[in-house]
Formats: sequence, structure tokens, C-alpha cells
Amino acid sequence: MNRRKADVVIIGSGLAGLMTADYLCNEKNVMLITKSEINHSNSWLAQGGIAAAVTKEDHWHEHYQDTIVAGSFHNRKETTEILVKHGTRLIKRLIEIGVNFDKDENNELSLGMEGAHGKRRILHAGGDATGKVIVEAIMARVLPRITVFEREMAYDLVIENGVCCGVYTKDENDNIWLIEAEHVIVATGGIGQLYSATSNCLEATGDGIAMAYRAGAAISDMEFIQFHPTLFKCEGSGNGLISEAVRGEGARLVTGDGEFLMKGKHPMEDLAPRDIVAREIFQTQLKNKSIFLNIQSVRNFQSRFPSIYEMCRIDPTFLKNGLLPVQPGAHFIMGGIKVDEDGCSTIPNLYAVGECANTGVHGANRLASNSLLEAVVFAERLSGKILTTENKVGQNEIAPVVLKSMKIVTLPTIKDIQMVMDRYVGIIRDAEGLQQAITWFEYYLNVLDEQHFQLNIQEKIICNMLTVGLLVAKASLHRKESRGGHYRSDFPKLNDHEWYGYRNVFLKKELYQEKFIEQSVMIS
Ligand code: SIN
Repeated sequence: MNRRKADVVIIGSGLAGLMTADYLCNEKNVMLITKSEINHSNSWLAQGGIAAAVTKEDHWHEHYQDTIVAGSFHNRKETTEILVKHGTRLIKRLIEIGVNFDKDENNELSLGMEGAHGKRRILHAGGDATGKVIVEAIMARVLPRITVFEREMAYDLVIENGVCCGVYTKDENDNIWLIEAEHVIVATGGIGQLYSATSNCLEATGDGIAMAYRAGAAISDMEFIQFHPTLFKCEGSGNGLISEAVRGEGARLVTGDGEFLMKGKHPMEDLAPRDIVAREIFQTQLKNKSIFLNIQSVRNFQSRFPSIYEMCRIDPTFLKNGLLPVQPGAHFIMGGIKVDEDGCSTIPNLYAVGECANTGVHGANRLASNSLLEAVVFAERLSGKILTTENKVGQNEIAPVVLKSMKIVTLPTIKDIQMVMDRYVGIIRDAEGLQQAITWFEYYLNVLDEQHFQLNIQEKIICNMLTVGLLVAKASLHRKESRGGHYRSDFPKLNDHEWYGYRNVFLKKELYQEKFIEQSVMIS
């Protein structure tokens, strides 16, 4: 077997992984691996912006309250406070290292509005290319100082005596590598590709969460999936995001008859929390009605939203009429690898950061533009932790890989998985459908859930998607209430009495309910 050694190995090349690398690479030998190319990530695609209380009229307390309300009071108080407090400071750092946030005509930071924010506090860069601008600035600093392996897939974690001491990977020629490392950081992003309509990049297949689960790390809050209300619906399918910032600038959701869809449905109408807007569109579309985003009143649409404008130009009549066809699609998973406020998982020396981590800051439903912020804030915390933790690589003798024989099973396709997720584990769920999904996933996973180095990269990705699909379905069946991104038609209400402050946790194949909020999460 081929071997490499590093102080720190980071799996994934989104903002969270790159920022962590940036903080660490002066003192540590950092290796970063990514299964495709370095700039393929959800961070790169992020249009919306980054939220922080940066003006005199705003305060992190207010950002905190908005985050908690959007999260249906399911947020961890400690980590959410860290997010919004340190966010304000770290925006200044981003500016210092060269991120050019958009300014208004008075040369002040131009602050946008998005759903469920009580104030304008969203910073953008490049109009609607915020993620790309930030990632490019970090890449320019960090890439010369770390080793990057592209087109190499993290296959499974190496756990010896209960401690993580590396990762097995496979390269594009199917060679197996062992990377020994003192610290292993999972930063693999989200799971959007489990659904047919998603804003996520093709790489978002939940690999890191599946790998950590197989290794025995605790995984939590998997039922909470955020569906974004407005994916561009072209030729029958979701085709990329139309940022909520467009509604923040006055665009309205309308039916084919020109009626305002959200009128009277919520006090914030089009800027109501995403789960509410997404469900309203979904239910209307089930009745075979089309929904459009009317952008006629948005000033300077082309210069304010250049990437969205380009995307919608596929059929110029949409732009000419000012009516963009939309549909909801999978956008963000609030759950993931359970970590503490420093990014430590339940396995020593294994960490997670970014969307694949469950820090608890998003509760049951993430507030718009808090995900880039999470990446920046928790990358700093995690690197601080690693820089003050003494570890010795090579203390554990790593056993050679055993190629076990494997029962032959014909794997489903990604489309098959998406059909099951869309139908049974989607925007609206019920016990019967969830049970059907679980039976379907278990049929495959009974054969596949051990380490099998025979699978090629594509097969391994499918195996990971099956694992994550099963976790989402099981957690969704277990939570007999509706909260945030998890909606059960058979339990359509919040049930604080039984579920407030509890989260679903998977640990070594068991699912249990853990109390994690002791008192109210509101700031008094
Ligand atoms: C959006 O631009 O609507 C998405 C931003 C986000 O999810 O934070």
C-alpha cells in the first residue's frame, strides 16, 4: 500500500477546509485532499453572502435572536453565541486579507436583506459571487503553503485503539493510499445530491458524514434538511440557485395567474423562513400550478445579480417578462458529525468543520447567509484547538488493509437514490413513506456497511449516499413532530413537550435521543 504522512490532513476544499488550512499551515504540515477539483465546492457557488452585525445600528444579540428563531429554538446556545460574536470580528479579518465586499455609492459596505433577518446585515462580494470571491482570496494565500491532492477520494478513516490516526484514500487510478496524520479534519460539505433538485455542487454526496459514521463517530440532527424555495426551474428540473437576496431586493413569488403566493401566509410574506416558503411552493406545484419569481421591481437586476442573470439567459423570454420559473430544492443539511465548540468529534483526533459538522448553530433551520460565517468562525476555533493539542503521529501501529470478500450486490444508481429521497424523505414526510425508504436503504447497506476496498470511487460514493439517506430517513421517522427543515404531515406541529431540547444522535449503529438544551436558548 502507498503511504504518506502529514501533521494534519483535511478532507474537502470548501471555505471551511481552506480557512482551517490557512490558520494551520505556518506551523503544521498540512495535506488537503479533494475528490474532484479544488474549486468544486458549495462555498464556491454561494451567492447569498455572509451575515454579521457590522454596523452601529446592529448588534450581535439581534443576529443571535434571528438565528435562534429561524432555527426553531433548536440551536446550541454556546456555539450560536460564538458564531455571531466572533463573526463580526472575522469579517474585519477577511477585509484585511483582501476580500473586497461590495460598497454603496458612499463607499460604505452595502448590506443586503434576506429571509428571517430583522435587519440588513448581509455582506456580498462580486454581486452574487460572495463564496467565490472569499474562496479565491483564501486560496491565493494558502495554496502555495500546503500540499493538495485533487481527484483523490477519502475512502475510510483509520481508527486504532479508538483514536483516529489517518485516512485511506483512493486515487483516480484506483490505487489505495494510507495517509497517516496526527489530526484528521472532515470538511466535505453537504448532501444535496441525494435529491434530484438541489443548489449543491455535484460533489455534495455526504461522503464525510458517511465515513465518520462507519468509523463510529456520533452523528446528529440528520432529519433537518433545508430546502431552498427558489431554484431556477428550467426544462423541468432545478437548475441552480436564485438567491434569496433577489427577494430581499423586492422580487415576489407569484402564481401563473399573477397572484402573490405568500400574501397572508406569514407576516414576512416572501421573506418568511425558508421551510415555510419552500413548502408553500411545493404544495402549490403538487396541484400542477407553476410558480414564478417576479423580478420586475428589482433595480439593476443584471449588475446586482450577474451570475443569476447569466444563468437565466438560457431562455431570454424569462428575463424579458421578468418572470423566472422556480421550484424548491435541497440546499443545506443542519445536522452532521457531532462536534463540540472547537470542532472535536466524539473520536479523538477526528474533527469536522463546515456543513458536514453539527455544531448546533443552525438549529433546525439555518438562517440565510450564516453558512459562510460558520465556516470562517469555526475554522478559527478548530485550528486554535489543534495548535494547542500535542499529538504524536505513528504512536499507533496501523494494521494493513484486509481485502475482505464481498457479497455481490447490484448497486442502485444516483437517480434511484434521488427518487427515493424526493418521494419519501423530502419536503413533506410521513411514517409510511419513511419506513419504505428505510427498508430500501437497508436492503443495500446490510451488504455494504463494512470497509470494502473493492469498490471504485463511483461505487463508494453511492454507498455513502445510501448510508446518509438511511440516517436522514431514520432520524426523520424518529422525530414525531415538525420543526424547521423537518416536516411530518402526520405530526404537523411543534411538540415542545416531547422534543424541545432533544436531538437524534446515531452512535455505532444505534439511534438515541439526547437532551442538549437545558434552558431557554433566548438571550434574556
Ligand atoms: C441564497 O442566496 O439564497 C442562499 C444563501 C444561503 O443559503 O445562505
